[in-house]
Amino acid sequence: MAAADGAGERGVFIALEGPEGSGKTTQVGLLASWLRDRGHDPVLTREPGGTAVGEEVRRVLLEADNVPALSELLLILAARAALVDEVIRPALAAGRVVVTDRFHLSTLAYQAYGRGLPLADVTAMNTFATGALEPDLTIVLDLDAAAGAARHAAAGRGPDRIERAGNEFHARVAEAYRLLVQEDDRVERVDASAPEAVVHDAVIALLTRRCPETFSQAEC
Ligand SMILES: Nc1ncnc2c1ncn2[C@@H]1O[C@H](COP(=O)(O)OP(=O)(O)OP(=O)(O)O)[C@@H](O)[C@H]1O
Ligand SMILES: [Mg+2]
Repeated sequence: MAAADGAGERGVFIALEGPEGSGKTTQVGLLASWLRDRGHDPVLTREPGGTAVGEEVRRVLLEADNVPALSELLLILAARAALVDEVIRPALAAGRVVVTDRFHLSTLAYQAYGRGLPLADVTAMNTFATGALEPDLTIVLDLDAAAGAARHAAAGRGPDRIERAGNEFHARVAEAYRLLVQEDDRVERVDASAPEAVVHDAVIALLTRRCPETFSQAEC
């Protein structure tokens, strides 16, 4: 499957999305192993982060005491611009599979629906920051906010600034993901309340259905 924005890019770009604790990082790891077992050499990225600029931005975003909503958006897009330019486009151009832990959908869910910034502006600014690069497939791990928080608590993980944003904020984010799945046919939902292995199987089923040229069952 060709990457979304055309000429010369031959890799496949996959984004894992979902609220806090929905299992994105877990599933990126399982997917990466699955891909390596089948001869792919995936490039894994996380947002915000993945570049020198991005990791600095991540620190500010997660640790600073007071980050206004618009500043938060601009910082995230600053990190994304670097990630797209330095990592994702070169990897796709080299024919690699890129798997990212969060991308544009997070910005819509958190900064537009969660923080209340205007959706059209957030979308336009993202398009500018990425040069209109979009994932070929975005998989939303759908989990209630409370269940995600309970997983983090069970793992003994203390909340960062965004995780501390409150129950109502996180409920809006989880609901936003459900809306966003319905609005774009390159975005698919997986029930993330199931055990890890079941979620993984659902992720693979989606990949092989949506990108059969690259991930056909015949190769498995
Ligand atoms: N399907 C699952 N069922 C039960 N627990 C899970 C499942 N998937 C992941 N976990 C556990 O839930 C916790 C959160 O998982 P993970 O860190 O992968 O989520 P995340 O979406 O990356 O979270 P964050 O948004 O905070 O980065 C971890 O302790 C992980 O082991
Ligand atoms: Mg994670």
